[in-house]
Amino acid sequence: MARQEQLPLFEPPSVTAPVAPGPAEEALARLDVPAAGDDPPADSLDAELAAITDLAALEAAARDCRRCGLRAGCRGVVFGEGNPRARLMLVGEGPGATEDELGRPFVGKAGELLDRILAAAGFAREEVYINNVVMCRPPGNRVPAEAEMAACLPWLRARVRIIRPGVIVCLGATAARALIHPQARITQLRGRWHERGGIFVMPTYHPAALLRDPSKKRPVWEDFQQVRDLVRRLAAERAQAASEGR
Ligand code: URA
Ligand code: URA
Repeated sequence: MARQEQLPLFEPPSVTAPVAPGPAEEALARLDVPAAGDDPPADSLDAELAAITDLAALEAAARDCRRCGLRAGCRGVVFGEGNPRARLMLVGEGPGATEDELGRPFVGKAGELLDRILAAAGFAREEVYINNVVMCRPPGNRVPAEAEMAACLPWLRARVRIIRPGVIVCLGATAARALIHPQARITQLRGRWHERGGIFVMPTYHPAALLRDPSKKRPVWEDFQQVRDLVRRLAAERAQAASEGR
């Protein structure tokens, strides 16, 4: 893809100071606001999926998806898994070989590391929701093409709509490009909060990038501490609002 060619994989670290999210209460009130400008336009599948309100029905519909060529080259759809009421959603790039084989996201080497990162930040895997930008494994684990991402995005948007997490972590550049900006550079964006449709979005490095470059462990650790703190704060604010009958 031309767009990807103009994107260097490694950028000098951003000098911008991390931006603290606005008041979480405000964000909760905005949960219904549709995602803003940079997102690809909603397509006909978005309208079709709008009627589906639970994950099992959505997954059943996704099983038959043939919207792009990826399905023909893989074993099956890796829909996503986890707590349907998760406050934290993780979005990776796409299934690898192990994921394709087992039909589950992040169960190979990168997944083992992700489990350790989550545990270190105080999250159990069962407590969060884990999924990817594309549900079908790209051949040879190549980066999904723009058109493949666009074809799969309505499924991700529907999962976000049904689960309504307060916080989404973009694991790596592909997820950041899908959810934050088509030309997102992960080294520049990571560590700072973004907001999409009332959901706080934190981009960080992909666990596979950490396996290649251990110096990325510290920034990822710092990013997940911010994530942990915000998830806790949102929970405390929800509890407070509930106790006040709001
Ligand atoms: N890498 C990803 O981006 N997603 C997975 O599910 C596994 C590895
Ligand atoms: N390049 C990186 O350094 N990390 C990613 O996660 C993706 C691209």
